[in-house]
Amino acid sequence: MKNQQKVLNGISVPVMLLDNELRIALANNAAFASFPSLQTGESLGKLGELDRDIETLLQTTLARRGATSLTIVTNETFQREFLISVKTVTDLEQFAAPTLVLTFEDQTPLRIAKSMRSDFVANVSHEIRSPLTAISGFVETLQGDGKDDPEAGKLFLGLMEKEVARMTNLVSDLLSLSKVEAKESRAPKKPLNLNQTIHQAVESVTALARKRGKHLDCKVVPDLPTVLGKRDDLARALINLLENAINYSREGSTITVTAQAAPNGNPLNMPAVFVSVRDQGEGIPAREIPRLTERFYRIDKSRSRNVGGTGLGLAIVKHILVRHRGVLTINSTLGTGSTFTAYLPVAAPQQKK
Ligand SMILES: Nc1ncnc2c1ncn2[C@@H]1O[C@H](COP(=O)(O)OP(=O)(O)OP(=O)(O)O)[C@@H](O)[C@H]1O
Ligand SMILES: [Mg+2]
Repeated sequence: MKNQQKVLNGISVPVMLLDNELRIALANNAAFASFPSLQTGESLGKLGELDRDIETLLQTTLARRGATSLTIVTNETFQREFLISVKTVTDLEQFAAPTLVLTFEDQTPLRIAKSMRSDFVANVSHEIRSPLTAISGFVETLQGDGKDDPEAGKLFLGLMEKEVARMTNLVSDLLSLSKVEAKESRAPKKPLNLNQTIHQAVESVTALARKRGKHLDCKVVPDLPTVLGKRDDLARALINLLENAINYSREGSTITVTAQAAPNGNPLNMPAVFVSVRDQGEGIPAREIPRLTERFYRIDKSRSRNVGGTGLGLAIVKHILVRHRGVLTINSTLGTGSTFTAYLPVAAPQQKK
């Protein structure tokens, strides 16, 4: 028995031995670690939702000296899912009757990945369906009542153009997201001049800022330390932050871009440089902050839609920064405004050119 226990403890996945009354006769350390309430002598039912069918299945397997597999979901607040492979073992020294050996595989990460994928597909479908529904409504009107009304025609074509632009935005954001995700594990190796990158980003949102009546104030030190990075990606990340600052702040307010070497004790805990975008918008409630970088997450959906938002902008920023081994921090005070700061590691001296 002692040797058996030692061998079982050497196995890193949970393993249990059930006697012919389906009670736990032996279990390894991994099993006790995975199921803290586990007790030998108890029935398996204590661990999760075991319905009658499962019990019957185990009994038949035992009676037939066969093998089977089944899935259980634990009864905890955070439910875990296990795939259990069951095999009958006969002629064990200390067991008169045949026993069942159960090996557990934790399927929870797989289940989470699956549900993330289906949530994602559901979100994408929903985001595409809304503009399509709107467009088909406009087409119907133009074919019906609005047929001979040039004014209505103009209005509806304009609205259709807006919806098409929204779908185009969504598709190009989805593409950017999947591209940065695919490259995430490969950190860029080429030195980059951040000053030029920031300049490029600010320039490309200047017209939008002017149109929306926002002032852009740049406080960027002239010789920023070199980082390793992709110019277009980092410019994209910065543009997304700037567009948000423009879209979610008051008319006549100022957006400040600051960039300089980050002080010691910065979130990266290494020599770093930061680029921050501060707005004088209405701010973001603290409980919403951790969720902002989730795909499709928007605090006020209709407001974001009005400015053509898809809710993917910050998810893209996050992935770009992860690829650059950087980090995004978000600080916000309700009624005062928000600051989004990107920290990037400074290139090691030998890598400088
Ligand atoms: N500077 C900001 N001030 C206030 N709220 C903000 C700010 N930046 C982002 N948000 C909130 O975070 C949400 C997510 O931002 P994100 O950039 O990911 O998506 P979006 O702006 O809605 O769409 P897009 O994909 O076009 O960027 C926004 O909908 C908005 O509610
Ligand atoms: Mg955005």
